Amino acid sequence: MSRIQLEGLHKTFQRHVAVRDLSLTIENGELLVLLGPSGCGKTTTLNCIAGLEMPTSGRVLFDGDDVTTASPHQRNIAMVFQSSLLYPHMTARQNIRTSLAKQRLDRAETDRRITEASSILGIEALLDKLPSQLSGGERQRVATAKAIVRQPRAFLLDEPLAALDAALRLTLRAELVNLQKRLGTTMIVVTHDQVEAMTMGDRIAVMNEGRLEQIGTPDEIYNRPATLFVAGFVGSPPMNLIAGEIVAEGDRTPFVAKDFAFVPGAPIGAAGPATLGVRPQHLHIHADAADASVPVTVFAVEHLGRESVVILEDDERNKLHALVEPGFAGRVGDRLHAAPDPTHCLLFDEAGNVLSHPRPE
Ligand SMILES: Nc1ncnc2c1ncn2[C@@H]1O[C@H](COP(=O)(O)OP(=O)(O)OP(=O)(O)O)[C@@H](O)[C@H]1O
Ligand SMILES: [Mg+2]
Repeated sequence: MSRIQLEGLHKTFQRHVAVRDLSLTIENGELLVLLGPSGCGKTTTLNCIAGLEMPTSGRVLFDGDDVTTASPHQRNIAMVFQSSLLYPHMTARQNIRTSLAKQRLDRAETDRRITEASSILGIEALLDKLPSQLSGGERQRVATAKAIVRQPRAFLLDEPLAALDAALRLTLRAELVNLQKRLGTTMIVVTHDQVEAMTMGDRIAVMNEGRLEQIGTPDEIYNRPATLFVAGFVGSPPMNLIAGEIVAEGDRTPFVAKDFAFVPGAPIGAAGPATLGVRPQHLHIHADAADASVPVTVFAVEHLGRESVVILEDDERNKLHALVEPGFAGRVGDRLHAAPDPTHCLLFDEAGNVLSHPRPE
């Protein structure tokens, strides 16, 4: 078990900056998710923690010790890869045993650890099977057993569920979180899937173009995004973003867009171009023009059973999403009005930094 610290981690490949001055701390026993779009530097960060890549500058610390130049073996970290990395000619038991080869344990201890890991993962009955005789989910469990028998200081998982079908992903992500909580071992999971991040992480670190945008609990990331990037990346359907301007009117600083205005709870320092953000559940649809509403045309209606998503277009053909009750009767082409709930609006400045969050209820 370990507390992992990254201090000013920087990694360049030739002239390309993959990770930019990244500093963060993963607490002992915490499950941290690294989330971000393809190419933002997640795998590179994980590889620097594992010792598979050497940072260009900056430090990696485990429990306060500088391990920046230590080998992967010295770090005693387990990388959990996908099932394809089981040796096809070996049984599950033999596959698990290979990960203890370097530890010079006696036979009894080796067997004890395999038995223990198998029982934790519920794979006792599978130990004498070959990988080809196992389902995708069973192979993933064997691969996980390979990692836990080593009793590593931390688990690093890079897109562990990416190759599995949707139903299996759902089951296994709950299993992974359950396992991590039972073992209490520090875990870092890399994903570009925001739902996976929200459901698994104690905290989420959102990366974009090599930089850390925000680190926080799923609740903080969703409800109090620090940047426009985080606001737009997390949440499905995505947050609605409306371009406008903050104007200074005496001691008030309303946000003014083409069709409506919104007055933030507290005055905002600087006037200038800004973006208003509102989640689909807080964009209300009316048949008639209401105060502070945007004229829209229904573009599509998606019925999800418990609720429906209405995709709308404003007169500049910008898309907006609204969540509505399942009985929504609007049809494609209908003219309606969309009104952001003023108690749930966020404002961002031109650089994408948050200016105001809704007040907590
Ligand atoms: N060995 C390398 N040589 C050159 N460039 C690299 C190398 N490894 C990664 N990069 C570049 O660094 C950037 C970050 O790559 P990285 O693999 O860390 O992204 P990622 O966030 O894991 O993306 P994905 O979600 O697609 O796996 C990318 O632009 C990538 O092209
Ligand atoms: Mg990657």
